[in-house]
Amino acid sequence: MDTAKGQKKHFTTQLLHWNHNDNDRSLPWKNEQDPYKIWLSEIILQQTRALQGLPYYTAFTETYPTIKDLAGAKDEDVFRIWQGLGYYNRCKNMLATARYITNELGGQFPNTYEGIIALKGIGPYTAAAIASFAFALPYSVVDGNVYRVLSRYFAIETPFDTTEGKKQFAELAQALIDPTASQAYNQAIMDLGATVCTPRNPLCSQCPLEKNCIAYHQNMTTLLPVRSKKTQVATRYFHYLILKWDNKLWLQKRTGKDIWENLHQPLLIETNAAMDKNELALTDAFKAANLSYKHIEYSGHGTQRLTHRIIQSRFFTIELNKNTGSLPVDGSWTPLTQLQNLAFPKTVLSFLKNNLYF
Ligand code: ADE
Repeated sequence: MDTAKGQKKHFTTQLLHWNHNDNDRSLPWKNEQDPYKIWLSEIILQQTRALQGLPYYTAFTETYPTIKDLAGAKDEDVFRIWQGLGYYNRCKNMLATARYITNELGGQFPNTYEGIIALKGIGPYTAAAIASFAFALPYSVVDGNVYRVLSRYFAIETPFDTTEGKKQFAELAQALIDPTASQAYNQAIMDLGATVCTPRNPLCSQCPLEKNCIAYHQNMTTLLPVRSKKTQVATRYFHYLILKWDNKLWLQKRTGKDIWENLHQPLLIETNAAMDKNELALTDAFKAANLSYKHIEYSGHGTQRLTHRIIQSRFFTIELNKNTGSLPVDGSWTPLTQLQNLAFPKTVLSFLKNNLYF
């Protein structure tokens, strides 16, 4: 056997051996057989860490034990359970897919890779995960964990975020998977990347692959994987006006193709820099609301980091004299007692809870 082949064989054998004997990461979706629950877990775990996703997985499987239950749920109820996970398009696509499978596919989850990847909200990673976990199909997952583990073990310096790098890593991952144990293989590489071959301070002494890991022997783990460019992260500045009148808050549902579609929010003024209350009162948007108020008070801020954006939110509380003004027609005065029935972006929810609105 040539060395490259031997290196690959050792990788897969050791990884599966570790998974069988030493991988003690316990997560409720592991060894799950029901494609619906596997799909749910994978949608929740897109852009969410396992520990953070866990209570959501439990809430969804308890509230909606079958795909039919989820398909029949009210949008608003599902958004409320999703609240706090962010990236609400995931939730929207999840609901659309549950309804599509229930109504158009007779409730049968597709059992081929092509059928799975054709569903809304499912890319190559999620399709490979579902295909292997639910149907034992030999498709290897490729994500940040996999780039890290493979680039270190094989000392691959091709940037993973280039066309060439993506192709190279995808081909290698596919060559490494044991087609007779695709579930175990995929779960093992995810778990190894999350618990041992971590981005910083990897636990090489506990790693089943240490013996043949080139990066370990050449002291290169901190240099790999290589990324070609830095992601541009722009900041957006949100100013929320907490309009209070008669034990009610003025709220509006976000619409349009932007973040947080369908979630509720107080009156929002977005500007291209952070403003204090005096600067804010001079903006056209503030003047357009034509509010009659006693005073305006800065009441706190919050920051939320998304993949390509940082959202800096500031909150200003305004006690209105009466229900006047020219507020957008799609909003309404909501009694404080009803706030618990609505879904909000994370920073808004924290603000409302911290300030005892509910
Ligand atoms: N991330 C995505 N899918 C996962 C899974 N099945 N287990 C752990 N982490 C994951």
